[in-house]
Amino acid sequence: MKKIVQKSQPIAKNQVIRLLLTLQEDAVTAISESNEPVDQLKLSWLGKESDFGRLASCMKTVPQENKQQIGAVLNGVKKSIESSLSQKLSTIHPPAGASDWFDTTTPGDLPPQGHLHIVTQAIEEITNIFNKIGFTRVRHPEVDWDWYAFEALNMPQNHPARDEWETFFIKYPISNDQYPMSNKKFSKIVLTPHTSNGQVREMEKGKIPIRMINIAKCYRRQSDISHVPMFHQFEGMYIDKNVSIGHLKGFIDYFVKQYFGSERKFRLRPFHFQFTEPSFEVDISCGVCGGKGCRLCKEGWLELAGSGMIHPNVLKYGGIDPNTYSGFAIGWGIERTYMMKSGIKLDDIRLIYSNDVRFLKQF
Ligand code: PHE
Repeated sequence: MKKIVQKSQPIAKNQVIRLLLTLQEDAVTAISESNEPVDQLKLSWLGKESDFGRLASCMKTVPQENKQQIGAVLNGVKKSIESSLSQKLSTIHPPAGASDWFDTTTPGDLPPQGHLHIVTQAIEEITNIFNKIGFTRVRHPEVDWDWYAFEALNMPQNHPARDEWETFFIKYPISNDQYPMSNKKFSKIVLTPHTSNGQVREMEKGKIPIRMINIAKCYRRQSDISHVPMFHQFEGMYIDKNVSIGHLKGFIDYFVKQYFGSERKFRLRPFHFQFTEPSFEVDISCGVCGGKGCRLCKEGWLELAGSGMIHPNVLKYGGIDPNTYSGFAIGWGIERTYMMKSGIKLDDIRLIYSNDVRFLKQF
């Protein structure tokens, strides 16, 4: 920049004013066109060594009668250069030569956000559905006495019906002081192969009517496209006076419509369980073909749950008089139920637990 004023040189009033106004014009244009950093521009146009700085220092030599007028112009010029500078700052041009813009107002990258696992989501949804009809979620042990998992369910030691539940037993020294062997309850310990261990445990609480939804982890020695060694079940149980198969059907119908949609149908097929009499398997119409029959379902139905009217022996083991009370019980697999939801095209249950985020984040 050309030096237009020499330091501390006495100059005439009009000359100063003219110089100041020219300076203001030059500064405003130069600032708006420049690519220099704003700090640098400030130094060049308002710094001590700038023309403005020199003119300002001339103020000392200005005769008293002109001081006010020149002072006012000087301030005005300063303000207008400052406002050009702050305007410049707000538009932030890239530094000379830089090709990219950096817009400080652009939102930053959000850290990756997870969500509840699909099984947890299904558990929450199922719990909410049953809450609405007065069935409350309860928790019972997932490592339990063989008694609750089998014997109290009418399956004594070595009963062949037990084979269906490919059970993991826990090797654990059971102290006779704490758990006397004379008490039939304390024999072996299992990883619960189904949630039905909750039936007698719930009855033992001694409160009737019972409207239970027991959701828990279950374990079986199995692994293929439709089985994993650890999975989840939910067990519904209703005990009161005069409970009938009609109640069971109403319960299933309500859940099927709420969870799968109003177009899905279910049917009961006679079956056998040691702990229910009569027993049924519950099938649901296939969500892929709408019940017409396809590769997945073959004949239009998918097997969903085991159910039945609670066996009188089981009620007795739970301390409930089978002559006064009756009840139904039903058990479903959470993962299986989730896979049968309309629109979920999951053909290998093991994917749910592979913990591959690319798979899980779709849900
Ligand atoms: N516990 C049974 C199973 O795991 C299902 C079931 C529950 C059957 C309740 C009848 C009553 O297959």
